[in-house]
Amino acid sequence: MNDRLIEKIKKLKKAREAVMLAHNYQPAEIQDLADFTGDSLALSVKAAETDAKVIVFCGVQFMAETAAILSPQKTVLLPDKSAGCPLADMITAEQLRDLKQKNPDALVVCYVNSSAEVKAESDYCCTSSNAVNLVNSLTQEKTIIFVPDQHLGRFVAEKTHRDLILWPGYCHVHVIISEDDIKNAKAKYPDAVVMAHPECTEKVKALADQLLSTGQMLKFAKNSNARHFVVATEVGMVYPLKKQNPQAEFIPASERAICPNMKKITPEKVLWSLEDMHYKVTIPEHIRIKAKTALDRMVEVLPT
Ligand code: 13P
Ligand code: SF4
Repeated sequence: MNDRLIEKIKKLKKAREAVMLAHNYQPAEIQDLADFTGDSLALSVKAAETDAKVIVFCGVQFMAETAAILSPQKTVLLPDKSAGCPLADMITAEQLRDLKQKNPDALVVCYVNSSAEVKAESDYCCTSSNAVNLVNSLTQEKTIIFVPDQHLGRFVAEKTHRDLILWPGYCHVHVIISEDDIKNAKAKYPDAVVMAHPECTEKVKALADQLLSTGQMLKFAKNSNARHFVVATEVGMVYPLKKQNPQAEFIPASERAICPNMKKITPEKVLWSLEDMHYKVTIPEHIRIKAKTALDRMVEVLPT
């Protein structure tokens, strides 16, 4: 990366009193430039805690929205406003209201990969790292609606031994990883530990050794003596794993598991974002207040 570009970004970050947060799937150069990298939960907590005036969110829209909901006094910038998450768009607030009407006594838990409007219709929010703990903390007396990711939902149902009402949403990046991808990687690296994200299909998860959020993958690999890891999630995850554990080898389960939205952020866009203070992420106050209740409950629950 161009040294002058890096210098300009650093200078402007300081002048604007900005902090740069980047998700673990971001391009390597963005992760290297960021002040903090992490999974959805860690970045939400960081966004809520920081005393920076500006947050440059290098991730996708629902992540920047989460930061804006938790910290309305801060300016949250998303360097590419088209960086969305198709999974988050798979349920609308209207569809959730219909589902609630059909199950009037149910509690609603939404995955953080959802719109602000859907969060506002939910009682609780969670990420893949604390979904099991969150559902375990809820009364057995109530039915639970879990939206929008069916695969994370089935993982939570199995771990908590609870019947959840699921929504048929999915992440197109994770469902592309097939059983054969895992079998082939295991045949090539018989000693490898297979780490899979809960957004993967049930068939893939059945072949995995560990089901982990991206932050949990980093923690697990750090404390493991294994030499080889098969990584069943978005390919960008291999970069922080390798950076943290240079002695081990990390094999992506599928080279096709690329999230195009995560790759929209570039160093140039980060610079323009800081120069022009765009794109500001704002949430209408009546939605923000309701969504914040669900998100406050999310950041209180520790990862599993
Ligand atoms: P994590 O919370 O595990 O980082 O996952 C975010 C995500 O978008 C997975 O596709
Ligand atoms: Fe959304 Fe999937 Fe991309 Fe994660 S990997 S941001 S769930 S599309």
